[in-house]
Amino acid sequence: MEKKLLIANWKMNGNSEELKNLSSEYTQSFKEQDKIEVVLCPSYPYLSLVNSIISNSPIKLGAQNIAKFTKGSYTGEVSGGMLKDMGCKYIIIGHSERRKYFDETDEDIAEKIQLAAQNNLIPILCVGEEFSKRQDGSYLSIIKEQIRISQIYLEHKAIIAYEPVWSIGTGLVPNAYEISEVINMIKQLVNLPVVYGGSINSENSSTILTINILDGFLVGNASLKANEFKDIYNNILSAN
Ligand code: PGA
Repeated sequence: MEKKLLIANWKMNGNSEELKNLSSEYTQSFKEQDKIEVVLCPSYPYLSLVNSIISNSPIKLGAQNIAKFTKGSYTGEVSGGMLKDMGCKYIIIGHSERRKYFDETDEDIAEKIQLAAQNNLIPILCVGEEFSKRQDGSYLSIIKEQIRISQIYLEHKAIIAYEPVWSIGTGLVPNAYEISEVINMIKQLVNLPVVYGGSINSENSSTILTINILDGFLVGNASLKANEFKDIYNNILSAN
């Protein structure tokens, strides 16, 4: 059986003290076992700090973005080579907040996926529809198009995160039928693990875990609250 993924997206939150404490707490709680792979994605300045805490544990390091260039005069950017050098195994690519606030296009995302793979980093491609697309029924074709342009199907090692934009940070979560419809569609297109993200917490995670084709979660807010995140972990452990 493939491991389930539990990915923490800390976004632009925390400071040295807080992230050190969270990483230590997760390191003490999440021991080696064959059912779950936990990934922590702090923002760039804290990669090294978090890596030093988790390096002797089964927890893996991820970043939240990658430059679409290899190296050179790109002030403010961080390359795939640098992220690999800092100890990253995974890279979140195309998060809806990057699409929205930094105008990332599906074409940019395709380039980033390629650069991640060239640096032996596993891309976590985020896809998902706006609320209006859920309402007008075009969500499946929107997601299909995001996947087509990203060319993620060329990668042997990659993860797709289905994150409906309207569910991120809102407390609104699609029902199990709605999530499984999208995951099914994605799995017909690509042979890759698919996780769900959007307002996951200790309560709703149990219901969503009844979807047996689901490969795990990408968790924002709840991953910054140690007890919540540990409960989600335990829910995955006790699910069939
Ligand atoms: P949320 O964020 O869990 O806070 O909704 C998820 C995400 O943006 O990846």
